[in-house]
Amino acid sequence: MTEVKELKTQDVPQQVLTRVEELYKQLGDAEHAYYTLDDPIMTDAEYDSLFQELSKIEAQYPALLKPESPTQRVGAKPVEGLTSVEHLKPMLSLGNLFSFEDLEHFHESLQKNLDRDTGIELVTEPKIDGLAVSLIYENGVLVRAATRGDGQQGEDITHNVKTIKSVPLKLKLKEGDAVPALLEVRGEVYMSRKGFFALNQKLEDAGQKVFANPRNAAAGSLRQLDPKVTATRPLAWFCYALGACDDTTQAWINENLPEHLAQLHWLASIGMPVSDLVKLATGAEEVQQAYESMNQQRATLDYDIDGMVMKVNAIRDQNYMGFLARTPRWASAYKFPAQEVETQLLDVEFQVGRTGVLTPVARLAPVNVGGVVVSNATLHNLDEIARLDAKINDWVIVQRAGDVIPKISQVNVSRRESVTDIPIPEACPVCDGPLQKEEVALRCIGGLTCTAQLRESIRHFASRKAMDIDGFGEKLADQLVARQLVSTLADIYDLTNDQVMSLEGYGQKSTDNLLAAIEKSKDTTLGRFIFALGIKGVGETMGQTLASHFGQLEPLIAASSEDLQKIDGVGEVLADSIYLFFHDEPMIEQIQRMKDAGVQWPHEEVEIVDAIFEGKTFVVTGTLSHFSRDEAKKRLEAAGAKVSGSVSKKTDFLLAGEAAGSKLKKAQDLGVQVLTEQEILQMLNLE
Ligand code: IVH
Repeated sequence: MTEVKELKTQDVPQQVLTRVEELYKQLGDAEHAYYTLDDPIMTDAEYDSLFQELSKIEAQYPALLKPESPTQRVGAKPVEGLTSVEHLKPMLSLGNLFSFEDLEHFHESLQKNLDRDTGIELVTEPKIDGLAVSLIYENGVLVRAATRGDGQQGEDITHNVKTIKSVPLKLKLKEGDAVPALLEVRGEVYMSRKGFFALNQKLEDAGQKVFANPRNAAAGSLRQLDPKVTATRPLAWFCYALGACDDTTQAWINENLPEHLAQLHWLASIGMPVSDLVKLATGAEEVQQAYESMNQQRATLDYDIDGMVMKVNAIRDQNYMGFLARTPRWASAYKFPAQEVETQLLDVEFQVGRTGVLTPVARLAPVNVGGVVVSNATLHNLDEIARLDAKINDWVIVQRAGDVIPKISQVNVSRRESVTDIPIPEACPVCDGPLQKEEVALRCIGGLTCTAQLRESIRHFASRKAMDIDGFGEKLADQLVARQLVSTLADIYDLTNDQVMSLEGYGQKSTDNLLAAIEKSKDTTLGRFIFALGIKGVGETMGQTLASHFGQLEPLIAASSEDLQKIDGVGEVLADSIYLFFHDEPMIEQIQRMKDAGVQWPHEEVEIVDAIFEGKTFVVTGTLSHFSRDEAKKRLEAAGAKVSGSVSKKTDFLLAGEAAGSKLKKAQDLGVQVLTEQEILQMLNLE
């Protein structure tokens, strides 16, 4: 209660102090109920109103502001870098078992060590595929969170962990409970599958790099410097063990919680999320049953687990058995089989994409891979077919890794019988037009006369980063092409009320909405319009580069291949592609028709505020934490820089954010100077 006395000296009225305590409790309970118990006790509006009330009081009496206040989950400032911290007790890892035989050996070794011939009681828990984190509570308040690191030393990620709503900022001790001076809780921070897909969608929409799987996404989110970024990431946490504590607390635990399961229940009672898959099993057979049932539940969970962990329940026995070098003798992980299965390759179909490239798609005998029925897998391109040496009727191994589309990893040649070669098309499977072989790809050269390319081009044209026609999805594009209402991009702007009304699923209201969205899309930017045209090799960034370089469309249309090659990021191949695109009479006619229909954009001008980067060419890569890539680009351009999409000899600087990949490597190989986000912020005086 010392804090209360201190605050009294600040002349905060007693009833305000009492109210603040109440608000902490109500908000803390609401977060716990919502995020940990999945059983809300108040509406969002009620929560918001209490939160506002607390924020207001804190604004009025700044002396009241405490780090454990529910308003302080997102701290004010980004940290400069992650600092290293020493763990109070080493954070160890676990040995792995892979079969029932391994499990029997493990159980026998427990029996031998403990000199017992009956079954040993083990707690079985999911092995959550996230990152081990240690939380330290001093006097019931979260003061530090750290990654596992090398087990001895980790990194301080307190600023980020505080943003995770299922991490209590204060222990939920009951009245009369002793407050532990020091209590360490260990567990796993992870990202739900649903949260992961949503995050990747958001990153993709923003033109940023997506994460390969939920684990990487959780790791990337935890290592951010700015907690505001982490706060937007759907992270959660499970606790699985007690760590270090002060002597008094240790004595209390020894006396009252002599078993691991009891400790988990106690941790749950003080507000920690504990998995409800935790069970007790005695002897190898029961553990095996728990393992099989957990493996079955695996596919229904909204988070990834890669195995089961088992731990001797009696803490006395744990202490007696002790540790090997880096793993306990009393616990082990029992891994689930990889998400791979064998099935038969029935057929291969070639799909035609927007630019005419044919992608082989494997049709498979339907098979359950980690709980999801898979009947298609991508084969990428002709080289991949050759690499796998796959043939129709072959038994193939199908893999589902994290999020991605299933793929064929191998052919089981030992089961090969009466197979036939995959027929490689000689004409476009959609329009029957001629094909051209380009490196590893086959391409239909039919352009928009090929309905597959037309449909994909329309979808691309209307998509969010292009002309942004709201409500213009796949089904609509399909119908417009099938009914021959749209056979060039410009036809979109000639669609009439009656035509749209005649489409399946369209009434007057949806027709009005679609026509209004088409109308609205006419006010666009030159960069978007160039991108929307679907020129081979011109992505969003290049669309903008061309717009900024030429300012208007006419000089771009008139540019020669040589002119185009002077632009950073434009090589000979791309220059030729752009040149040829604009030297196609029907295309020029279409552009004119769109302009006549009212498609327009403001004259493109790059405002130069403080031209410290005048004439310098930048490439931006990786995940930035201070601003979005678009903002970074705008800031750099405002300082006179040109921002290009790919690294070349002409690049002066690479701004490399987190998880920068191939562009960073290329820059290093070419000796291009690499700058961090922090350095750029300093140079632009944005700190
Ligand atoms: S207990 C000494 N329990 O697995 C025992 N670990 O290889 C330490 N993990 O670093 C860990 N779920 O990140 C334990 N229920 C669970 C777990 C779990 C996931 C991770 C943890 C640890 C790694 C061990």
